[in-house]
Amino acid sequence: MSKIKVIDQSGISHILDAVEGWRVMEIIREHGFEVGGLCGGACACATCHVEVSDGWVEKLHPANDDEEAMLDNVPILSNGSRLSCQIIFTPELDGLEVKLVANG
Ligand code: FES
Repeated sequence: MSKIKVIDQSGISHILDAVEGWRVMEIIREHGFEVGGLCGGACACATCHVEVSDGWVEKLHPANDDEEAMLDNVPILSNGSRLSCQIIFTPELDGLEVKLVANG
């Protein structure tokens, strides 16, 4: 099964099983991690903000205008900032690494 690597707010890495077609936000939440997701993936809250690790940013489809607009609301923006609900997991993303960040 495909995996993603999640680095929690304490800096601890976790390898999670990932399901094709699921939003990365859903995968993280399904494994019991706090990743926000208040709007359920409608790109309307930005609570699911994560930092995608170097080397993976360019492998993702670019953020669309709606995601870019929501990212303007996050407390700390980085080069890897994405909304995890807007990343649909595909086999090409096996090994994707993201860092959970404080969004409140
Ligand atoms: S869950 Fe609300 S923007 Fe991602």
